[in-house]
Amino acid sequence: MSLSVLKLLQSSAATSKQIQLATGLSQAVVSRTLNKLGDKVIKINKQRPPKYFLSREAFGAGNKIALIGVDAMRNNTLLGYLRPLGGGGFYVEGNNETPAPLLGCNKGFYSDLPYFLDDLRPQGFLGKQIAKKMSELPLVAGISFPINLNYWNNEHIGRYIIANNENLTGNILLGEKELMRIKNKPKAVSRNEYSSIAQEVLNGENFGSSAGGEQPKFTAFNQELKKHVIVKFSPAGKSEIATRWRDILLSEHYAAIALNQYNIPAAQTKIIEQDGRLFLESVRFDRKGLFGKLSMVSLLAIDSEFVGMGDSWVNTCEKLFEQKLLSQDDLQQVKLLSAFGQLINNVDMHLGNLSLGVKDNLFNLLPVYDMCCMGFAPKVSEVMPFVSKPRNIDGFGLNSEQKALIIKVVTFFWKNLAREKKTSTEFGCFISRMSNYSI
Ligand SMILES: Nc1ncnc2c1ncn2[C@@H]1O[C@H](COP(=O)(O)OP(=O)(O)OP(=O)(O)O)[C@@H](O)[C@H]1O
Ligand SMILES: [Mg+2]
Repeated sequence: MSLSVLKLLQSSAATSKQIQLATGLSQAVVSRTLNKLGDKVIKINKQRPPKYFLSREAFGAGNKIALIGVDAMRNNTLLGYLRPLGGGGFYVEGNNETPAPLLGCNKGFYSDLPYFLDDLRPQGFLGKQIAKKMSELPLVAGISFPINLNYWNNEHIGRYIIANNENLTGNILLGEKELMRIKNKPKAVSRNEYSSIAQEVLNGENFGSSAGGEQPKFTAFNQELKKHVIVKFSPAGKSEIATRWRDILLSEHYAAIALNQYNIPAAQTKIIEQDGRLFLESVRFDRKGLFGKLSMVSLLAIDSEFVGMGDSWVNTCEKLFEQKLLSQDDLQQVKLLSAFGQLINNVDMHLGNLSLGVKDNLFNLLPVYDMCCMGFAPKVSEVMPFVSKPRNIDGFGLNSEQKALIIKVVTFFWKNLAREKKTSTEFGCFISRMSNYSI
């Protein structure tokens, strides 16, 4: 009997009435059959009359995969279940603890992996190293992981996420095993070790946990700060390219200082020089203490679910504000950040370079990272001269007071960068030639 109900649900979701009509079974028998199928069937009460969907097994974790949120004290909260759907896609089965934005814009239904898991897949510089390591693993359940991330499907991504929960950005974990995990103190790393870690990273031997972005980097638990950090580093030596990357990392450090000085939150950074490399250490704002985690989802992932514009921080955040998913204050800060980036030649303000946290019914702006003079970065293997260009911030909808504030922040930025001895002579001369620190 259950086969025919199963067969029907395999082709599409149905109400009890529709099942009765299609199978010729009585209401009582349909109800008993559905009960017997247990977690193979998902009853969606939000739809009236309730609809029954078939679930499927995924990621080697069954058909009801725990979604767990971690807090700053490392308490775990069950935020609901990820239910892979028989007909493709996923359903987030929420509970009283589920922040509304995790249900997306279609009441928990997703045609693909939910957007808030997007950032957890391996990406960028470290992602390539992770894919290489995963591709070398012996087959588990007949699954092999392609070395090329373009060939990873949802099954690869989901299995990777479940197996590597501890290392992922943000605070969302998958799979109930996480609820039973015993806390393991992270290995603390001293700043003196950064140079040797960089070498190991380039050899593909070590990288800490996962983080996106194309530049060489690693993550670590820093011994001096007793905090989790992300460390980007320049090429070693004094080549034109190495020198230019040093200038770019220095610009990121001084941009963060200037923004924080004027209460526009940016990551806390520090510059360290060691063995011919420059290291930019950034304190992770998605971590707290040894074990705590804080929410973080990239604007890129959020845009893909709620907006679908994908072009600029301000446009996407305006749409989120209109949907009451972002506060007006946060939208203002995003406009200020965009204007600041525009004035310092940050041509890399893509949606992956801004992240939001999730709390209750809202997203909230997190400190900015990767804010630098990226327009001056080496282009593949070439280094272009520093050139000034008129830059306009009229399009960001700032009032005259806010424009004046940004000019102050930009001036503070260039003044302090000009005093930094580690910048190249060329960059130093370029800054000193600027009139009113406007490029
Ligand atoms: N201080 C921080 N706290 C938490 N996460 C961070 C922090 N800084 C960076 N990240 C995360 O690490 C990722 C990589 O960092 P970043 O953007 O600085 O690297 P990148 O290689 O320069 O990036 P891109 O490819 O955009 O040039 C970011 O996309 C963000 O998810
Ligand atoms: Mg980046």
